[in-house]
Amino acid sequence: MIQPITGMKNAFDLSGKTAVITGGNRGLGFGIAQAMAESGANIAILCRDTKKAAEAVEALSVFGGTYRSFSCDVTSLPSVRAAVEAVCEAFGGIDILVNNAGVSCTKALLDMDEDLTDWYKVVNTDLNGCVHMTYEAAKRMRDAGKGGCIINITSNAGFMVNHGQPMSPYSCAKAAMNHFTKCMAVELGEYDIRVNGIAPGFTNSELSVHIPKENLSYINKQTVAGRFGEPIEVGALAVFLASPAAAQITGTVQVIDGGYMLRC
Ligand SMILES: NC(=O)c1ccc[n+]([C@@H]2O[C@H](COP(=O)([O-])OP(=O)(O)OC[C@H]3O[C@@H](n4cnc5c(N)ncnc54)[C@H](OP(=O)(O)O)[C@@H]3O)[C@@H](O)[C@H]2O)c1
Repeated sequence: MIQPITGMKNAFDLSGKTAVITGGNRGLGFGIAQAMAESGANIAILCRDTKKAAEAVEALSVFGGTYRSFSCDVTSLPSVRAAVEAVCEAFGGIDILVNNAGVSCTKALLDMDEDLTDWYKVVNTDLNGCVHMTYEAAKRMRDAGKGGCIINITSNAGFMVNHGQPMSPYSCAKAAMNHFTKCMAVELGEYDIRVNGIAPGFTNSELSVHIPKENLSYINKQTVAGRFGEPIEVGALAVFLASPAAAQITGTVQVIDGGYMLRC
């Protein structure tokens, strides 16, 4: 059983925890890595672009913990297995897993090629990547017997059909991740592993720079907060969900979209 906090001292502290963040080399993943590093966690970044990962590790070094990157393609179970093994060897275990790696696609189903390449790419990365990582990391959390925390980065697109941009593989993968979050919260609960999701709305990153200019003013008008989110804001929510303060929170998906969905 996960014990409750008794006061606010250290309630948001992640000191001594090891956090694995897929896609932590840039965008939202780096915002989460920075927020967790600033809150005391040691960080393992898993991604494919090792040069960008080395830059991210260098940027984190000012926070004084242990930070490393590991090459990993989340679409490949053998690659995930090898990376998780390497992390456990280097850090002695995993306390926090953030399934953040993701790709998007703005193409209507009938515009896709004969092999549905775009469909499989998105589903294999966003949904199956999350499943691969959860399978490998949760086994180690269970065997270590110290509990753990898993955070799945989904999207508000998992709750609605986006205006102006066909993105069915992305929306469906994110909706499935939302439900996977609930299923895993129940299945892994007996090992004191909490599982939650974060569903961001439009947030500044390399993924969001591909949004057509003509859509930007619509999006900002539609968003109650009047602007895109920042990666560090998603990071702050991830820190809360991973912290002792969130001991009673599992199986939820927290929307952080500046109120965008309220007007949909
Ligand atoms: N930006 C937004 O507006 C927004 C809104 C809602 C949700 N999200 C979600 O937030 C997450 C991060 O998105 P972002 O905006 O930060 O995008 P981004 O800047 O394009 O970053 C995507 C990250 O995913 C990693 N990645 C992609 N494919 C991978 C693979 N096969 N194996 C391992 N890593 C892989 C990339 O690293 P490598 O290329 O080095 O592998 C990169 O670090 C995604 O799940 C996205 O769906 C974003």
